[in-house]
Amino acid sequence: MKFFLLLLAVGFCWAQYSPHTESGRTSIVHLFEWRWADIALECERYLAPKGFGGVQVSPPNENAVINNPSRPWWERYQPVSYKICTRSGNENEFKDMVTRCNNVGVRIYVDAVINHMSGSGVSAGTSSTCGSYFDPGSRDFPAVPYSGWDFNDGKCKTESGEIENYQDATQVRDCRLVGLVDLALGKDYVRSKIAEYLNNLIDIGVAGFRIDASKHMWPGDIKAILDTLNNLNTRWFSEGSRAFIYQEVIDLGGEPITGSEYFGNGRVTEFKYGAKLGTVLRKWNGEKMSYLNNWGEGWGFVPSDRALVFVDNHDNQRGHGAGGASILTFFDARLYKMGVGFMLAHPYGFTRVMSSYRWDRNFVNGQDANDWIGPPNNDGVIKEVTINPDTTCGNGWVCEHRWRQIRNMVAFRNVVDGQPFTNWWDNGSNQVAFGRGNKGFIVFNNDDWSLSVTLQTGLPAGTYCDVISGDKSDGNCTGIKIYVSSDGKANFSISNSAEDPFIAIHADSKL
Ligand SMILES: *[C@@H]1O[C@H](CO)[C@@H](O)[C@H](O)[C@H]1NC(C)=O
Ligand SMILES: *[C@@H]1O[C@H](CO)[C@@H](O)[C@H](O)[C@H]1NC(C)=O
Ligand SMILES: *[C@@H]1O[C@H](CO)[C@@H](O)[C@H](O)[C@H]1NC(C)=O
Repeated sequence: MKFFLLLLAVGFCWAQYSPHTESGRTSIVHLFEWRWADIALECERYLAPKGFGGVQVSPPNENAVINNPSRPWWERYQPVSYKICTRSGNENEFKDMVTRCNNVGVRIYVDAVINHMSGSGVSAGTSSTCGSYFDPGSRDFPAVPYSGWDFNDGKCKTESGEIENYQDATQVRDCRLVGLVDLALGKDYVRSKIAEYLNNLIDIGVAGFRIDASKHMWPGDIKAILDTLNNLNTRWFSEGSRAFIYQEVIDLGGEPITGSEYFGNGRVTEFKYGAKLGTVLRKWNGEKMSYLNNWGEGWGFVPSDRALVFVDNHDNQRGHGAGGASILTFFDARLYKMGVGFMLAHPYGFTRVMSSYRWDRNFVNGQDANDWIGPPNNDGVIKEVTINPDTTCGNGWVCEHRWRQIRNMVAFRNVVDGQPFTNWWDNGSNQVAFGRGNKGFIVFNNDDWSLSVTLQTGLPAGTYCDVISGDKSDGNCTGIKIYVSSDGKANFSISNSAEDPFIAIHADSKL
């Protein structure tokens, strides 16, 4: 019996639902479009010391070079081959990054673009990040190699060959997504080429994959590929560990394809999370923070242990993908920090923090005409992420993950890991608070008037440093101090005009 229980426990830890982060590290960050050399440095100088569990990196495989518009971010979602060779760096730089990040306990997760190859609108030639020839028109990708037989053109039943109706699950899976030529994942040969690519990454030392456009693939086809993957590299992971899998399934309800169809393969991205949280914090549709008392499955989300959650991602922060106008981003910094703070304090889901670059938005009829703009660059070469004396980033990189409020909430989540959701309080409006057992407590004031209230925190008596307004430093606090009395109660005052109208304290911020 004991042996059986042990097997069960170990089985869970090894499976595709576990991120394989080091113990005590509970969040990952998407360093969107960063170069491998910069990520390696960031792991060593910042992410490891601040308790980040891992990094989602942009697709590392060769992609089409798009010049009209000029080098958009989305060119990386147009594969040409499985050579590790992009604007972020070559295979040696990628290996160096994975090794250095793993060596300081920070995992690497690869954005795997396996549903399709470069689009039909792109002409034949060698305009690719490694110079490989390809011809989407004739379905010729000799650097893999793929040819006409390896695509779904015969299987797709729509007139245009494109996905025309999202209510028809078959065409969503068998037809082209915005012109991108659709790989025949039913074929053993195609599966084997994809598995070869993913196994190369696993052997280098990555911990798992975001599976791009999973909704556009049959769950069984994804499973057939995953079943042939190697175990993770035992230089950093325990024997028998399986790659962490999170599948991009945009399910906001109202379509026949649901996230739950993909649970057998791994976790899914819960897009309702950011869309709803944005609606609540913006107070749209009569939503209030007090309604968040049953946040999670109670809001129709997938089970917590199947969810990968985020406030925004690289698509919906610029109006692509899903979620619409309610999505909070660094452009709405005050609400954004509250949203990310709420996510990191709340026990639901496995959390991913977004880290972006700046671009000039240009709204035309409600649409951002600049939604395509690629990363900061010099003539197409991605710019280095420079670090300012105040620890923020330069050269156009936003680095939300370095904002004090967000970085400190990543630490909060690590401290309260495994603790229950406790001591909920609300005023029936937009003032709410909750604790995580006896390890942490957070209070929000998103009303248009000040908050002054005595609350049960569940924490041991003492003086705590609010990690939103400041940092604990040399045993002192650069921000607001909160006094918890021996009965666990504390007074909180938060002006509605505070720079950040929320306060968070935890076991490690005790003075
Ligand atoms: C909470 O909001 C209500 C209105 O719903 C208001 O009457 C009350 O004063 C607020 N509570 C606090 C503690 O500010
Ligand atoms: C802590 O910082 C405050 C100001 O933020 C200062 O007044 C106080 O003297 C400091 N305490 C110690 C023990 O350094
Ligand atoms: C909270 O404020 C009240 C009223 O000012 C005071 O009597 C009480 O001691 C305070 N509690 C704590 C824990 O500081």
